[in-house]
Amino acid sequence: MNTEISIIRPDDWHLHLRDGEMLGAVLPSSARIYGRALIMPNLVPPVTTAKLAESYRKRIKEALPEGSDFKPLMTCYLTDSTSEKDIHTAYAVKAFHAAKLFPSGATTNSENGVTDIKNVYPVLEAMQEIGMPLSVHGEVTDPEVDIFDREAVFIEQVLEPVRRDFPELKIIFEHLTSKSGVDYVFEQDEYLAATITPHHLLLTRNDLFAGGMNPYMYCLPVAKTFEDREAIHKAAISGDKRFFLGTDSAPHPARMKEKVGAAAGIFNAPTSIGYVTQVFEELDALDKLEGFTSIYGAGFYGFLPNGSTITLAKQEEPVEMNWQIKVGGDVVKIFKPDTPLFWDLVD
Ligand code: NCD
Ligand code: ZN
Repeated sequence: MNTEISIIRPDDWHLHLRDGEMLGAVLPSSARIYGRALIMPNLVPPVTTAKLAESYRKRIKEALPEGSDFKPLMTCYLTDSTSEKDIHTAYAVKAFHAAKLFPSGATTNSENGVTDIKNVYPVLEAMQEIGMPLSVHGEVTDPEVDIFDREAVFIEQVLEPVRRDFPELKIIFEHLTSKSGVDYVFEQDEYLAATITPHHLLLTRNDLFAGGMNPYMYCLPVAKTFEDREAIHKAAISGDKRFFLGTDSAPHPARMKEKVGAAAGIFNAPTSIGYVTQVFEELDALDKLEGFTSIYGAGFYGFLPNGSTITLAKQEEPVEMNWQIKVGGDVVKIFKPDTPLFWDLVD
């Protein structure tokens, strides 16, 4: 007999949908599962104003499958010249639900990001005052810092000073990957939360090299050690409201992944909720799943949980699907770690 579980419809608090043909191709995978998603603004050019956000939101709405209730929540891409006045006005009318800090050069399309955190201090001041959340890509970009230590060094050099200077600024430490990060969030108060991705629940850095170098396991921040993954597991199943799901589903065409200088980003939307459920089952924590996927994130952003539910079922055989979707003349491959997937969305 199949095991089934029903949970309040989840939200995705960190999603890259891109634009144009790619948007049309990837959006149905998220809309099928999630009620809402916080949409990352790292388009080219980036979503830096309320006007750009509104037209992007409209394009997303237009690309939705008929009858879908999926709600995109927009974010503002912070640059050195973001104005606190614009942020204030845009947040007041909910044109933005958060502002995203990409340290310049940290990840895909972050070239226009912030070069020195002090440059956005007036903006952070305003955000603290109005209660607008700051979503943070928590890695330093100094090439001298080992890539596996960039999250830990970010805490020390950037996050800790920001927390000290703006203790009531709501911050989301995005896609947490390290034990240092988990320990840090646990030590802090309710103003600091963190998202956790499906892939960081599954991968370690070994997966990047298993069977030969594999760009489909490459994202930023990069997956880390077994000890780090264990800490991520503990945080996810802790029942602590400060840890919730953000898939960081980040599609790239195969031609951008399968080359020297492979793009960072894992397209996991179609398998995201199945894999998260599977990890929670393996950790004997299915009773903690709904809080992590459907309640805590909404609470942090000031929403009620969604009004509908989804049902997942454990299959006897690994889930079979075409592990790629077509986009124009290319394909985007779906996240397929070594572990076979048994949980599937049935309703
Ligand atoms: C993301 C992307 O491709 O936009 N890539 C990634 O590896 N996660 C950007 C990001 O969130 O860092
Ligand atoms: Zn991301």
